This record gives sequence, structure tokens and C-alpha cells, in this order.
Amino acid sequence: MAYPESRPRRMRRSAAMRRLVAETRLSVDDLVAPLFVREGIEEPQPVASLPGVFQHTRNSLRGEVVALRDLGVPAVIIFGIPERKDAVGSEAWNPDGIVQVALCDLRDEVGDDVVLMTDLCVDEYTDHGHCGVLDGCGSVDNDATLELYARAAVAQADAGADVTAPSGMMDGQVAAIRSALDDAGHDQVAILAYAAKYASALYGPFRDAVDVQIADGGDRKGYQQDPPNAREALVEVCNDLDQGADMVMVKPALAYLDVIADVRAAVDVPVAAYHVSGEYAMVQAAAANGWLDGDAVGLEHLLSIRRAGADMILSYLARRAAELIG
Ligand code: PBG
Repeated sequence: MAYPESRPRRMRRSAAMRRLVAETRLSVDDLVAPLFVREGIEEPQPVASLPGVFQHTRNSLRGEVVALRDLGVPAVIIFGIPERKDAVGSEAWNPDGIVQVALCDLRDEVGDDVVLMTDLCVDEYTDHGHCGVLDGCGSVDNDATLELYARAAVAQADAGADVTAPSGMMDGQVAAIRSALDDAGHDQVAILAYAAKYASALYGPFRDAVDVQIADGGDRKGYQQDPPNAREALVEVCNDLDQGADMVMVKPALAYLDVIADVRAAVDVPVAAYHVSGEYAMVQAAAANGWLDGDAVGLEHLLSIRRAGADMILSYLARRAAELIG
């Protein structure tokens, strides 16, 4: 039997019809807002390369999280900028360190209404800007770094984190953190593993936001993934799940949509994607020049990350997107 001619345009005639047949939806529930809190400042500081993003004071951070809660954004991820950096990044596990005190403030302010996530790494806290402690030859010592991550994870959990998100790409980091959390009685604190994190040039504006310069013109290519490798991402994801990760992340997002789709197809845990600083900054810059409609492109980008298979998106657009679609 011959089928009647297919006429897909019938399904595109009205906004209501398009809504009805939409395969993918972007919801406020999918968004996680990355936020920066800086020790020792009196006023929030704008980040020049991330228009609309601030280094917050403890107080302005509370206000921002309340605003996000009121818009329905379910989660935030907190990054700290300490006053004092040292060779091992000890402010990362100081109970009075900036992220720890900020977490206590936020827990007081919003209770369980917002999921409080913390980035877990030491690069914001080390004077050399690497994601771990250096060995005698200037490269990052994997296993010595795991001990530091374990301490920082427990400090974050003690301060009220719901989810800790190790971003340093050390081998074995998820297992080390899981066992430290469990030993400290924090078996309810979840781990969102930055599992497939690439050594990307798209993190530039973020490093302005956290005042990180890698010493001696160094880079992270020895520990973050190499951009040509997609299959390797599945090895990283499987390793992290075997070690106890509750959720896995692909980062960056737009340049790695294939990786997001592969990971989605391979695992059943929640998949996060980090729409990173450079991805945000490019659109803001073009919009500021009047070259494109920043809101429309931003929403299209977030939708495409969902279409690739991400359940949640960490994005500097979280607040704006919530205002637009909420
Ligand atoms: C490391 C970390 C980085 C980002 C999140 N966690 C920077 C890096 O790996 O150099 C980048 C996020 C972004 O660019 O938005 N703590």
C-alpha cells in the first residue's frame, strides 16, 4: 500500500502545534547556576570577560541564590576565590575557608529549597594554579592530590554541601572522595564527577573569574582529556561510575555534543553538561556588537545540549534562561 505523502510542515503550522510535537524541552528544572564567591571584598566585582557574572561577596551571594530560588532554579554550584593561596591549596579544606562559610550562609538562607553543589578542586587555592600538588619535577602528583581532595570534600560536606563535584581529573579521585565522605558520616552527600573534562581553550574567561594563572605558561593537558578523543570519554565515565559517582558530567558542552550523546547512550545515571565560560562569553560578545540575538542564541544552545542528551546544564545563562522560559 502506498502511504499518503508525508507533509511535515503540517506539524509546524502554529506555535501550539510546535509545542505539542516538540521532542525536547528546556525547563528551569534542568539548570544549575555556577556562582563565584570571593573572600575579602566589600562589593560584588564584575568579571570583564563574563558580562553579567560577578565575583560575589558572601552577602551578595545569598541574594543571588534567593533570586535563583524564586525563579525556580533547582541548583547552584559554588566556586571560591580565597585571599590566601599556597602550594597545596589549603584554603580548600579550611573550615573557615570562603566556600565553607558561604555554604553555611546558604544553607541558613534557603534550607533544602536549592541543591548546593560545590566544585571540588584546588586550582583556585594553589599559588601555581594547577589542580593538584606538584612533585619535584613540576608535574601534578596524582596520589598526593587525592588526599587533598578527600579533605576538601569532607570540609564541603561538613559545611552543608549536598553534592560535591570533583573537577581536577586525577585518576581515582571519585573513589578517594567517596570513601572519605563515607568515613566522615557523609554517605548522603552525592558526587557529580566531571568525568569527561577536556583540556579546552574555552575556559579562559573562567580563569579570569577565579584569578587563576597557571605558573610558567603551563597547561592542564597532562590531566584533562585530549580534544580528539571521544571513545576515551566513555572509559573515564565508566571508571568514575565504578568508583561511586552518582552523576557524570561532560565539559565543555557545545563543542562536545557528540560526547554528550555517546555518554547518554551508555549510562543510566543523570548526565550533566557544563556550558562553559568561553561558550557563554562568545555569544555575549557577539550580542553586544548587535551581531546576533543573544537571548535567542543562548536558548538555542541550551536546547541543543538537552537534545544531545544532557539531563542538566551548568550554565552562566541559568538566571537569564529562567527569566525567559520560567
Ligand atoms: C577547575 C575548573 C575549571 C572550570 C570549572 N572547574 C577550569 C579549568 O579546568 O581550567 C571551567 C569552567 C568554565 O570555563 O566555565 N576547578
